[in-house]
Amino acid sequence: MKTKITKLFDIQYPIIQGGMHYVGLAELASAVSNAGGLGMITALTLKTPQRLREEIERCQSMTDKPFGVNLTFLPQLKAPDYPAYIQAIIDGGITIVETAGRNPQPYMPLLKEAGIRVIHKCTSVRHALKAEKIGCDAVSVDGFECGGHPGEDDIPNMILLPRAADELSIPFVSSGGMADGRSLVASLSMGAEGMNMGTRFIATQEAPVHENVKKAILNATELDTRLIMRPLRNTERVLHNKAVERVLEKERTLGSSLQITDILDEVAGVYPKVMQEGEMDAGAWSCGMVAGLIHDIPTCKELIDRIMAEATSIIHERLHGMLT
Ligand SMILES: Cc1cc2nc3c(=O)[nH]c(=O)nc-3n(C[C@H](O)[C@H](O)[C@H](O)COP(=O)(O)O)c2cc1C
Repeated sequence: MKTKITKLFDIQYPIIQGGMHYVGLAELASAVSNAGGLGMITALTLKTPQRLREEIERCQSMTDKPFGVNLTFLPQLKAPDYPAYIQAIIDGGITIVETAGRNPQPYMPLLKEAGIRVIHKCTSVRHALKAEKIGCDAVSVDGFECGGHPGEDDIPNMILLPRAADELSIPFVSSGGMADGRSLVASLSMGAEGMNMGTRFIATQEAPVHENVKKAILNATELDTRLIMRPLRNTERVLHNKAVERVLEKERTLGSSLQITDILDEVAGVYPKVMQEGEMDAGAWSCGMVAGLIHDIPTCKELIDRIMAEATSIIHERLHGMLT
């Protein structure tokens, strides 16, 4: 399949693995890229720019296909040294960066001078237009369904994607709620040039996370995610668990006086415990509604091949058949 995204990133299939904290490491990124998609290493999971350099090298030893690095600009108590991370990306010969969170404008000159193609992940048409204006090559349009941070507008992809198609000149991929060939064909029909997946890629053989995390996704339905931190305007979609129940209780009782310090135990530094130790109630962790569509743990190659076969059959047989 050829789309503007496969051409832009020189990949076989228009399927991207979004950056994921403590998940997007070399094992997963290389497996996605080897299967013909675009894998992403998640920079901030590597605690120093030097660790990121090593992870990029590790990934390069596992694939000769293109892969990218995700740089997330989220509210942090202490901002990471972004210029040093970007230098590690440039020195590592990486030519694709997924930015997310805040506007990447301050770092665009550095990235563009190094010849890096930037895909910015955003949750609204106005932010996508801003990304286009500041020189991003593509955007990932993240709907309300998504695991992680859906923003504060709550617009699902059935509306957000056609709205993006109506406004944008640069290519975009759908993100949030994507799992299979049906998702890909629907995204293409709404104007996207491919799709980005997060939660679906966690439940794969190569995702370097504890088996408990994969099992939790398999056991979850589309009803099992919750939105937390809305009073802080930093909304996150997470899998329901005991820690999330405590956060929601604090949000109910403290209302608009809630501070980040009130929920630090449940949200700060919890990813290593969940993803590596498999302590499923250790804290709140991002997960999409798409968990309801995930019922197995394939290899990345099996998953991507299946998606492409299903998409091809929908286009050739189901849709084409309706016209004859
Ligand atoms: C466990 C997890 C961690 C994530 N961490 C990040 C991150 O560090 N940076 C980022 O830009 N997006 C992050 N995301 C969002 C994904 O890249 C992607 O946009 C999102 O998962 C898409 O929605 P889906 O889960 O419905 O596929 C994370 C998602 C999950 C599920």
